Amino acid sequence: MTAASEPKPLDLVVAITGASGAIYATRLLQVLVNSGRHVHLTISPSGAEVLDHELGIRVDLAKLDPQRLLVSDSAICPVEDVPPGELVYHHFQDFRAGIASGSFPTGGMVVCPCSMGTLASIASGQSTNLIQRAADVHLKERRKLIVVPRETPLGSIQLENMKRLADAGAVILPAMPGFYHGPTAILDLVDFVVGRICDQLGVTHRLFKRWGEK
Ligand SMILES: Cc1cc2nc3c(=O)[nH]c(=O)nc-3n(C[C@H](O)[C@H](O)[C@H](O)COP(=O)(O)O)c2cc1C
Repeated sequence: MTAASEPKPLDLVVAITGASGAIYATRLLQVLVNSGRHVHLTISPSGAEVLDHELGIRVDLAKLDPQRLLVSDSAICPVEDVPPGELVYHHFQDFRAGIASGSFPTGGMVVCPCSMGTLASIASGQSTNLIQRAADVHLKERRKLIVVPRETPLGSIQLENMKRLADAGAVILPAMPGFYHGPTAILDLVDFVVGRICDQLGVTHRLFKRWGEK
């Protein structure tokens, strides 16, 4: 809960695209909403396919109740007590959404997971859907844009696209969990990546034990 004297934190944007690792996205949404942040969510059709394939979450992009993603009953990521009403969903083709404009203030955007296709499109400024447009807006407004690519091995075109995005100010945060925090379950690995995203957004968390922490 934000104290009356404190300014309300700015809204955040999360986009789910069609790379493996949909669990990172659902966990990120849980953590952000649980920490009281107002989150704008958009999902590509391939992102929806991966949600179904990896987590068994079937979403109808035309009329999605985003709260469904907060209470995933995946065996990896258990149901949590998440307050409702902090998550707003936008269709990936809805360019009338506020997040399509630089005049709509945000505290940053995360593309998680980020497919190589979306990464390439953002790197070349294509803006052919709301995800790419919102990312482009974050770059032009010099706001935080975090992309969480998941691909291996990486080809030279993919690496060049990442370099281009990093040069434009984006944070490239690959879905590469560390192992120095003593993970014993898949959720520990997921939380490592989600925690590093939260670090970039300035969202406080206790998702993993930091290096040097007693
Ligand atoms: C189950 C599944 C897993 C996929 N995993 C990846 C992946 O890990 N990385 C990636 O770059 N693309 C992956 N793809 C391919 C992308 O989804 C595809 O290139 C798509 O066009 C990306 O569209 P989007 O960026 O609009 O989501 C996967 C596709 C499916 C169906």
